[in-house]
Parts: sequence; structure tokens; C-alpha cells
Amino acid sequence: MLTVVTGVTGQVGKRFVPRLIQGAPQGDRVRVLVRDEARGEPFAALGAEVVVGDLRDTEVLGKATAGADAVVNIAAAFRGVPDEEAVAVNRDAAIELGRAAVASGVRRFVQVSTGLVYGKGRGRALVETDGSVPGEHMWGAYPESKWQAEEALRGMDGLTDLRIARLPFVYGEGDPHLTAVMQWAPRWAAMQRLHMGHHVDVAQGLRRVLYTPGASGAYNIADDAPVTTVELFQLNGMEVPAEIYDREAPDPWHAVMSTARIRHELGYRPMYPSVWTAQDAGAL
Ligand SMILES: NC(=O)c1ccc[n+]([C@@H]2O[C@H](COP(=O)([O-])OP(=O)(O)OC[C@H]3O[C@@H](n4cnc5c(N)ncnc54)[C@H](OP(=O)(O)O)[C@@H]3O)[C@@H](O)[C@H]2O)c1
Repeated sequence: MLTVVTGVTGQVGKRFVPRLIQGAPQGDRVRVLVRDEARGEPFAALGAEVVVGDLRDTEVLGKATAGADAVVNIAAAFRGVPDEEAVAVNRDAAIELGRAAVASGVRRFVQVSTGLVYGKGRGRALVETDGSVPGEHMWGAYPESKWQAEEALRGMDGLTDLRIARLPFVYGEGDPHLTAVMQWAPRWAAMQRLHMGHHVDVAQGLRRVLYTPGASGAYNIADDAPVTTVELFQLNGMEVPAEIYDREAPDPWHAVMSTARIRHELGYRPMYPSVWTAQDAGAL
């Protein structure tokens, strides 16, 4: 099996690919798409084939998918990019990658998405059959473009084995995300919650979604214990500002996901059920 992975130089991809390569069955191959050749070298050293190019270049997509059996599309533009770029990468390029996969005869396509696609909370954990309800809290070009990509891929002729992985707020293994979140957290309400997943569990979930025979459609990946804004301050060893207690949480169920489906169908069990267990284990 030859698996093509995009977004490998990002926080999720750079931790997922070594696990994918190390855990791959004998004879399986991995090909990565990178924008900068030099950044492909660590993956080449692990035994991956490297294709250099931008996801928005359709010629590159043909090269990347040629002869492949599976695609895992991790690439996304959402960290401080203009809305047009988010749409171009997260929606348009993901759709073109789906088309390229079909044209190349790729059987399986794993689209990495986000729990933000659900939009407004429903007062309970979100399940994969819930649609998208665009909401004010954290809604914008990023979740919208990811949802539109999902929709387009779901309706794409020839893309018969589509699997979608919806990720939570990902942290761990030195990812600066957990500290970076503190640039926003002071504006949130004390009781607002954030659903998280450690990189080791995101990689576990993605591998299960990729490999499990018969897996189909969307799967939420997350841990068992969303944390509050207050806990984010505690995790970062910071004093909790008194004023955050004066704010009402706009949506305490925002992006809080049920993991029942991936547990029951794919055997997923988080190694770190909460960020606190990861902290205890020295895995932040
Ligand atoms: N991290 C989270 O908390 C989180 C939460 C929910 C969902 N997700 C999803 O998980 C995936 C990975 O997130 P991440 O945190 O790893 O993001 P990231 O650190 O920002 O990495 C993004 C990756 O996409 C690549 N990329 C962006 N634009 C590209 C383009 N035009 N052509 C080719 N590659 C391009 C980047 O390449 P360069 O290095 O060349 O820029 C990088 O490898 C995304 O699909 C995201 O939606 C992440």
C-alpha cells in the first residue's frame, strides 16, 4: 500500500508521519508532499518518497497521487492566513486533491477536518451525523472551508472510500499550541470549554481511520475531558484573571465531540484521556 500524506511539515503531520512509517506493514510505502524540498529531507531519511510542490498546483497533485492507494490530506491553511488562502487551500485544493486521487485510481481518501465544522453546540456531545450549524462562536473562513471541503468530497463521483477525521484542539510533545492558546483565552469566559486531543491519540485515531477495513464517513477524534478556560490558565501556571468569571460562556458545548463511534467501530482508546494525564506523564 502506498499512502500519500500532505501537510507533513505541520504540527499534526510531522508527528503523524514517523508513526505511520514505523507502524506500517512490511512493504508499505509512504509519500509526502512538501512545499520546500529541504523540509522533505527528514521524511526521506525515514524512508518516505518526497514530492515537492504546492497543494494549489493541480499538476503537483497528479504527481503526488500517481500510483498511490491512499491519500491522507492533513494540509490546511488556518494559522494567521487571509480568508482567501484558507478557502483556496482548505476547500479548493482539497477538492482538487480528491479529483486527482480519483483520476489516479486511488482507492482510499482520508480528509483531516476539525470539530469546528459543527458550528453551534447542541447542549450535548456532537455526533458525526450532526450537520453544520454555522454559529458565531469561532465560526469563520476556516471551519466553513473545511465543512465545504467535506461536503464536496462526500458528493464526488468516484471517491468511493472517503473517510473523514474531525480533530479537536491538538497538543502535546512540545507543540506550542497549549501556550499559544493563551493569546485568546484571556478573552474567554471561565466556564467555556475546549475539547482536546494529544498528538499520540490523534495519530492513533488517524491510523485507525486509514487502516480499518470497512471504515466509512466521519469519525470524531478527541480525549475524554474537555477543559475550561480556568484549566488552561492552570495548565500554563498562570493566575486566573478575576474578570473571566464575570463572563457567561457563549456555548459550553461548542466543538465538544462524542468519540463513541471511533471507539465502538475502530477500537480507539485515548492513551491520554485528559490533558492532565498527559501533564502527569510529562507528555506536554
Ligand atoms: N492543530 C489543531 O489543533 C487542529 C485542530 C483541528 C483540526 N486540525 C486539522 O489538522 C490538520 C493539521 O493541522 P496542523 O495543526 O498540523 O496545521 P499546521 O501546523 O498549520 O500545518 C499545516 C500544514 O499544511 C501545509 N500547507 C499549508 N498550505 C499548503 C499549501 N498551499 N500547499 C501545501 N501544503 C500546505 C503546511 O505546509 P508548510 O509547512 O509548507 O506551511 C503544513 O505542513 C489541518 O487539516 C487542520 O485543519 C488541527
